Amino acid sequence: MAKKQLRIGLIGYGFMGRAHSNAYAQVGHFFPSSYDVVLQAVCGRDAAAAQTFADKWGYKSIETDWKKLIARDDIDVIDIATPNNLHGEQAIAAAKAGKAILCEKPLGLNAPDALKMVEAVEKAKVPNMVWYNYRRCPAVTLAKQIIDSGKLGRVFHYRANFLQDWTISPDLPQGGAGLWRLDAKVSGSGVTGDLLAHCIDTAMWLNGGIKDVTAMTETFIKERKHTLTGKTEKVTIDDACSFMCHFDNGSLGLFESTRYARGHKALYTFEINGENMSLKWDLHDLHRLQIFDYADEGTERGWKSVHVSDGDHPYCGNWWVPGLQLGYEHSFVHQVVEFIKGLESGKGARPNFKDGLACDYVVDAVLASGKKKTWEKVPKPKGWK
Ligand SMILES: NC(=O)c1ccc[n+]([C@@H]2O[C@H](COP(=O)([O-])OP(=O)(O)OC[C@H]3O[C@@H](n4cnc5c(N)ncnc54)[C@H](O)[C@@H]3O)[C@@H](O)[C@H]2O)c1
Repeated sequence: MAKKQLRIGLIGYGFMGRAHSNAYAQVGHFFPSSYDVVLQAVCGRDAAAAQTFADKWGYKSIETDWKKLIARDDIDVIDIATPNNLHGEQAIAAAKAGKAILCEKPLGLNAPDALKMVEAVEKAKVPNMVWYNYRRCPAVTLAKQIIDSGKLGRVFHYRANFLQDWTISPDLPQGGAGLWRLDAKVSGSGVTGDLLAHCIDTAMWLNGGIKDVTAMTETFIKERKHTLTGKTEKVTIDDACSFMCHFDNGSLGLFESTRYARGHKALYTFEINGENMSLKWDLHDLHRLQIFDYADEGTERGWKSVHVSDGDHPYCGNWWVPGLQLGYEHSFVHQVVEFIKGLESGKGARPNFKDGLACDYVVDAVLASGKKKTWEKVPKPKGWK
């Protein structure tokens, strides 16, 4: 039987544009489905650069105006891989045009922005997903399966870190291509929306909703030259953020993120402690899950490091042979697998826009708490589970 086509229109060909394109190119080779993923068009404002990208990755055509890309009737899916301030406008236009949407994280510039995006996809009834790809690292998916089996028993603690060190120099400018993350008008926030959003999404997937938060945020370098204006301007992002929270299940959460932890490049770690079992994961060693099981024989009890590569580990059976590990890029392939499964079942894929909004509500509450030095209640999207 002829396969259906899933014709991708990608907006933005930076870091994530490459990660997504690699996933589209790989997915059909390893995960059979009823769809053929077709790299139909890539959109960027610079025609020559967009053409170079299209030639390199196999896109059939280019656009320089994302509105024209969305208006094309030979595109089924709009993939948004642009800076955060563009997600809302682009996703709402794509929903109105009846396109399925894959959007990068954080979903919106803030929660009100994300709410409008949720309303748009619900009104248009279009498939939607947010690229919180860490859910799809096999070791993290395995953690989810173990937690859902109930083996941990009552959960007491969840803690996560996301540590980097690339903004320590005061000479680093803010704003413009590559440095838009330092400009809150474009990014929405600093480490909270950029890095902690990943930790929050994984945490709520594994351990359920967050009830309330109290946070400490800091901007260490108060002024930086802005690349677009050439002037020294106030820095309005949070350089570092630590927050505590209560989860709905009664457990306590502790989160920290910074771009000022000298020596750390992308140290995303999480740990969950239940009455019977604890689990730990580390992005720098992403193919391993650390497990402590109190049910083990006393003299042999201890942390074990499971090399997540066996045929019965999540996603692994579709790749190589046991023992050969998977990496960062595979999480994006698995995200596309989930999206296609959601189309095939008609049930949609997770994390969807509502999950993205749930995360943005936590981000906004954390930022508000950091400013006001208060405990903030966290709203939840209507009907979100
Ligand atoms: N899932 C993850 O792990 C992960 C990792 C990095 C970034 N992200 C997210 O992905 C998104 C993009 O980040 P990035 O690191 O790829 O950024 P980037 O700066 O590398 O790429 C952004 C791209 O958007 C393009 N762009 C900007 N304005 C545009 C416009 N008006 N029309 C068309 N294209 C436009 C730029 O030219 C560039 O190609 C952000 O939302 C970011 O938070 C997610």
